[in-house]
Amino acid sequence: MNEIEKRVQQIGVVPVIKLTHPERDAAPLAKALTEGGVPVAEVTFRAAGAAIAIKAMCETCPDMLVGAGTVLTTAQVDEAISAGSQFIVTPGMDADLVRYCQQKQIAIFPGCTTPTDYHTAYKLGLEVLKFFPAEQSGGLAKIKAMSAPFPMFKVMPTGGISLKNLGEYAKNSVIAACGGSYMVTAELIEGQQWDEITALCRQSVAIVKEARNG
Ligand code: 3PG
Repeated sequence: MNEIEKRVQQIGVVPVIKLTHPERDAAPLAKALTEGGVPVAEVTFRAAGAAIAIKAMCETCPDMLVGAGTVLTTAQVDEAISAGSQFIVTPGMDADLVRYCQQKQIAIFPGCTTPTDYHTAYKLGLEVLKFFPAEQSGGLAKIKAMSAPFPMFKVMPTGGISLKNLGEYAKNSVIAACGGSYMVTAELIEGQQWDEITALCRQSVAIVKEARNG
């Protein structure tokens, strides 16, 4: 695992963020996550202004690990890197985009759920994959089945993760971290409920800690 992957694993949860008002919300959100013990964010390119959000988060909390999500093109990789992104997340497995990230020496977590995806990831020398969409693709049962032929990977399941199932996932040694939007929903961000976001982060960290120690 590289240093970025190790940090992601150590933190244990990765908020998946979509900001419609990055100028207003990125800085207080970065503080709220950091205060909650979750100094990491996957800022998705689903919203225009993702690069603005990444830059603002990096400036507000320089020790935070800020990455870009829903990255589909090399142009977005470049934009994310220029904004200060330290990792890239893609929803699917695009070998060309992975190679591009490897050339740029930026950590990349491609979305993988099938034996074909995993095999491609193996050929590309990856170690940590996003497993997306996790619940909809078979959840933990599928993740465990996949790690029989591919025991070399750790995964970051995202999609359908909540406080209810976080512990079940985190217990398993194949899980590097769990991603999700449940602690940074559109409603929480629109309502600028930073304390609530911090509280959800603290709860998540406690669940992961207990699951890993149990
Ligand atoms: C993602 O892009 O990783 C997912 O949309 C997040 O899934 P969730 O909203 O179900 O947590």
